[in-house]
Amino acid sequence: MNLAGSLTELIMVKFNRRQFVALGAAGIGAALVGNWLRRDISDRSVTSAPVNSAPLYQSSNGLLELDLEASERPVNLGGQQAYLLTYNGQIPAPRLEAKPGDKVRIHFTNNLSQPTNLHYHGLHIPPTGSADNVFLRINPGEKFNYEFDMAQSQAAGTFWYHPHLHGLVAEQLFGGLAGLFIVRGKEDEIPEIKAAKEEFLVLQDFSLDERGRLLSSIHMSLMMGREGDVITVNGQVNPSFSLPAKGLLRLRILNASTSRFYRLSLENHLFYQIATDGNGLNEPIEVRDLLLTPGQRADVLVKGNRQPGQYRLLNLPYDRGSMGMMAGGMMHRRGMMSRNDRDVPRVLATVNYQSPVESLALPTKIASISALPEPQTVRRFELNHGRSPAVGMAFLINGEPYRSDLIHIQVKLNSVEDWEITNRGVMDHPFHIHVNSFQVISRNGQPESSFPTWRDTVLVRRGETVRIRIPFHDFAGKTVYHCHILDHEDLGMMGNLMIDA
Ligand code: C2O
Ligand code: CU
Ligand code: CU
Repeated sequence: MNLAGSLTELIMVKFNRRQFVALGAAGIGAALVGNWLRRDISDRSVTSAPVNSAPLYQSSNGLLELDLEASERPVNLGGQQAYLLTYNGQIPAPRLEAKPGDKVRIHFTNNLSQPTNLHYHGLHIPPTGSADNVFLRINPGEKFNYEFDMAQSQAAGTFWYHPHLHGLVAEQLFGGLAGLFIVRGKEDEIPEIKAAKEEFLVLQDFSLDERGRLLSSIHMSLMMGREGDVITVNGQVNPSFSLPAKGLLRLRILNASTSRFYRLSLENHLFYQIATDGNGLNEPIEVRDLLLTPGQRADVLVKGNRQPGQYRLLNLPYDRGSMGMMAGGMMHRRGMMSRNDRDVPRVLATVNYQSPVESLALPTKIASISALPEPQTVRRFELNHGRSPAVGMAFLINGEPYRSDLIHIQVKLNSVEDWEITNRGVMDHPFHIHVNSFQVISRNGQPESSFPTWRDTVLVRRGETVRIRIPFHDFAGKTVYHCHILDHEDLGMMGNLMIDA
């Protein structure tokens, strides 16, 4: 197929009429398109490599058990030697797979030069003891055995694990420490989904110096949230995936980047989203551009119903706000994206058609999510940044930066609450809660979708108010909620949540 032609078609779709009018003369529009194409083609000079099957640990006889070591290691990143922070030497970390009801045992060793710990993002497991306990501190050279049981009621879906020691989360995640945690369950047995070709896409960005060393935090715009100029999918630059002609491709996508948002689009194809974060939707939703904030996941199906050929998975520009003057100065630091680079699409991966299979239809029904009962309590949260007497410039929730010695919110086990989150700042913030998923009730007073959906991370754009409904069930104990731009979390946009039995 003609790639340039299809891209022009894509651009026509992306720019609505008003934007074209705003651009003025057609000549300006053409110049812009030309520029866009040129940049895009330069991205293509990177040869697309086939995707390696990522290392995998699966549970058997109800037990998932493995050794996991965090350490700095040399790895090959898009053809370049890089020294990254890894689990078991791998970027991304090994994929873990278990089933509801399984026991999980992870023999963890910290060989980093900093303390760390593990968080199981999205899993509904206890926040205490040796489970999803983000208050543990595992010092360099120390070992810790994580052990927990997953409930039979654990949702099947795409979850992940990463470090969560407050103050070091962004730095360690940006070093590469992240991996998928897949729970297999009934959604995987739906015939159309089972027959689809399954691929996992872990999106990570990195900033390296000439010697392949990670750029240190002082070179990054932490207020904006650090972004790297090397964007990888499964640790590779522009890998390729194959899509069976007439068949279905199931992409399970994780945004494991520290601050970068992705707005994904596959040339000439639509996505049929079947899960948000770790939870199946009632029915597939057609999506043209798939926005994923840091921490979020999406499971989508792609139909192989186009002319066989090569199609590019693009990351389209998205404006998540900025710190104004301040960010302008910082953005030009080494390894950071310039404003200009933010405004063009980038090629993330290439999808190739392969030989046809028997034609596959989309599933019609996936999960059955029922709406939660009315809340017993409504709380309000205001997100902003500002000065705090104690720490200087900080990110704040209800006017305060995080304090480890406080309980910010106390809730009752087996209650349902509404949290109304208002963003009064100049940047978008993805709001995340540990242990319990929630339903998004409304955005600026408008319902988000025609049926209830579950999430564990919700985007609250600048100026927006988002209302979520949270059932606190099964597990008591202390945990956290925070912005998943992890620099914001480290700079104070977090709170301690106590769930009282
Ligand atoms: Cu993915 Cu508290 O984090
Ligand atoms: Cu989490
Ligand atoms: Cu934020």
